[in-house]
Amino acid sequence: MTRLRGKVAFITGAARGIGRAFAQAYVDEGAQVVIADINFAAAQTTAQEIGPSTIAIELDVTNQSSIDAAVAKAIASFGKIDILVNNAALFSAAPIVEIDRAEYTRVFDINVAGTLFTLQAVAKHMIERKQGGKIINMASQAGRRGEALVAVYCATKAAVISLTQSAGLDLIKHGINVNAIAPGVVDGDHWDGVDAYFAKLENKPAGQKKIEVGKAVPFGRMGTPADLTGMAIFLASSESDYVVAQTYNVDGGNWMS
Ligand SMILES: NC(=O)c1ccc[n+]([C@@H]2O[C@H](COP(=O)([O-])OP(=O)(O)OC[C@H]3O[C@@H](n4cnc5c(N)ncnc54)[C@H](O)[C@@H]3O)[C@@H](O)[C@H]2O)c1
Repeated sequence: MTRLRGKVAFITGAARGIGRAFAQAYVDEGAQVVIADINFAAAQTTAQEIGPSTIAIELDVTNQSSIDAAVAKAIASFGKIDILVNNAALFSAAPIVEIDRAEYTRVFDINVAGTLFTLQAVAKHMIERKQGGKIINMASQAGRRGEALVAVYCATKAAVISLTQSAGLDLIKHGINVNAIAPGVVDGDHWDGVDAYFAKLENKPAGQKKIEVGKAVPFGRMGTPADLTGMAIFLASSESDYVVAQTYNVDGGNWMS
């Protein structure tokens, strides 16, 4: 398929998980892809495995110099950026009375400031180029409502939905579509970590939380990164030109709004 032929995509946190699946899907659709991740060794391995249409770039979304350098390197390597996926994020969980201020700051810095300032750096390039662009932020069902024990992560993802609306409304005059995807529960390294948190916080055996959340999904199972790639391609392609400032649930029916 060639829905993204000639396009260059920059995906944060693409060394593994959902970002990696998007990188593969975009390459399969004809794009060149920057795999930008704080774990540079893993990003290099992923780039080698996906193939020659990719490059790995080291990126820490909490560091402005790192964002600026990574965006400049991507443009030097591929000439432009047409598509940004703000995917890098960190999960965190704790009862309200145990939330630690340093952890709060760390999670907001990656999930919210990282999303905003990477979006800003790439949007400046897109505005200068005058060819429009597509920006996709990774929100979550966690941003649709609060959850006991997950206050900080939920608040960051609600902020991502809000930023998507504001940036979408501001940037559409430049032909830049900003939209978001809100996954539900997607199996992988991220959810291995979530399961481990709940094993400790709720005194459950390892793996129990995954079984519970999978059974609760109306579709009947947890999602996989591959369940999200169709929406990621749609939002990166010209098929979504009239779609502005939206957050799409791709969650097997967990949330309706
Ligand atoms: N897995 C799920 O169930 C789920 C559900 C809803 C939303 N999401 C969201 O989808 C996105 C991807 O999730 P995932 O499950 O693939 O996560 P993941 O933890 O498997 O991958 C995250 C990637 O981000 C990178 N990263 C972390 N900090 C970084 C930083 N400061 N700068 C650059 N890169 C950094 C990590 O090295 C890693 O490669 C995240 O935004 C997450 O919040 C995931």
